[in-house]
Amino acid sequence: MTKKQAPKTAKLIIGDQELDLPVMVGSEGELAIDITKLRSTTGAVTFDPGLGNTGACTSKITFLDGEQGILRYAGYPIEELAQQSNFVEVMWLLLHQDLPSSTQLEQFNHDVTHHTMLHEDLKRLFASLPKAGHPMAVCAAAVGALSTYYQKAGPQTAEQNWSDAVRLLAKMPTIAAYSFKHSIGQPFMYPRNDLSYSSNILHMMFATPCGKYEPNPVIARALDLLLILHADHEQNCSTSTVRTVGSSGANLFASVSAGISALWGPLHGGANEAVIDMLTSIRDGERSARQFMDLAKQKNSGVRLMGFGHRVYKNYDPRALILKQACYDVLAELGRKDPLLDIALELEQIALSDNYFIERKLYPNVDFYSGIIYKALGIPSDMFTVFFAIGRMPGWVAQWLEYQGDSAARITRPRQIYMGPNKRTYTDVSKR
Ligand code: CMC
Repeated sequence: MTKKQAPKTAKLIIGDQELDLPVMVGSEGELAIDITKLRSTTGAVTFDPGLGNTGACTSKITFLDGEQGILRYAGYPIEELAQQSNFVEVMWLLLHQDLPSSTQLEQFNHDVTHHTMLHEDLKRLFASLPKAGHPMAVCAAAVGALSTYYQKAGPQTAEQNWSDAVRLLAKMPTIAAYSFKHSIGQPFMYPRNDLSYSSNILHMMFATPCGKYEPNPVIARALDLLLILHADHEQNCSTSTVRTVGSSGANLFASVSAGISALWGPLHGGANEAVIDMLTSIRDGERSARQFMDLAKQKNSGVRLMGFGHRVYKNYDPRALILKQACYDVLAELGRKDPLLDIALELEQIALSDNYFIERKLYPNVDFYSGIIYKALGIPSDMFTVFFAIGRMPGWVAQWLEYQGDSAARITRPRQIYMGPNKRTYTDVSKR
């Protein structure tokens, strides 16, 4: 709907009270009813668990049409970016909502390459944590700890925020790789400034001081694609967390550390690891694909088809479509076969012809096929969500910066509908 066609107001009737609420129109025609004055005028609040109907901010970063399966970063279709761009350029695009000039790109590439080292003292943080600890917990701790190295007195300036942003984007791969090296007891590998962003990640993950390691360009390109596809996804759970924490005035590192924790859950980024566990259990004969699907449809089983369904997409997730094809390409380029891909295809085929999934519009999401590619690249399954976090970092940072610059932004503080006991009198413990 265009701005001209859109209604200017929406009428709300509460008892004998009638209210004209302003209607907002997004740049792609989506309608929103502005309820900012609702409580002060009527005393009522809205009720929207999970916030599925609530626009908490305006944003210029990412557009998502879940009905049609469209995803664009600042107007550029994800399919074009996946095919023609690279992750560093996409980072800039999200941060500035425009493509960089060649000079800007060169400078930015230099910046996110030359700020990759961690303070030597920070290594002790990794050493103090159990090797079996999940790397997402290690990464959240290390990113939070970065704020102790970049503390500033007084209010944050735009220059300081940019400097923090560059450092965080540059250091996240180092933190991620250190969390892995710590878990397997290998020495940390310092970043190499002569490598591309993605090749350097592979170097820090897989090189050792004992021998030569040259990142495989096929693997580096596949990794770059994965990072591009994960780079932003508007107001998802972790991004909303980053904005919420940032809304209190907390610094970027603290806000993003909270976002990493939010991403870890299996209903969000943790689904990529859960998908591989699911596929592996079917491969190992715990139950057949059909038996698993029957279980996933039973409400009380506690089992879901991981990597399927999405709060916003009621169509095929465009990222899953790209990743499905990439599974074939990467496995072929590396000369590998993976029975997990066949199982995933079988699950998808059963789901897409089953009424339960059809009626609920449940399609593969970004996490359904990504794990098969990570696995082919040699990345262990407990690191999958960490790689999601490396990819999502520019989105978190861009959304945090946007919030800081938004004159309409206020501290996030939702209301509730209290359903607890009414007023009662305290009785001493001896009389209870
Ligand atoms: N398997 C079986 N049933 C499902 C699934 C699934 N994967 N997803 C949703 N449903 C059912 C759900 O039980 C409900 O049924 P009913 O209407 O009978 O109560 C209906 O579909 C709607 O689901 P919902 O849980 O109300 O939907 P939501 O928008 O709250 O949740 C979701 C979205 C992604 C958490 C959910 O689809 C899910 O748990 N999927 C599996 C986990 C997953 O793949 N997560 C990754 C999400 S995409 C990437 C990311 O965000 O990181």
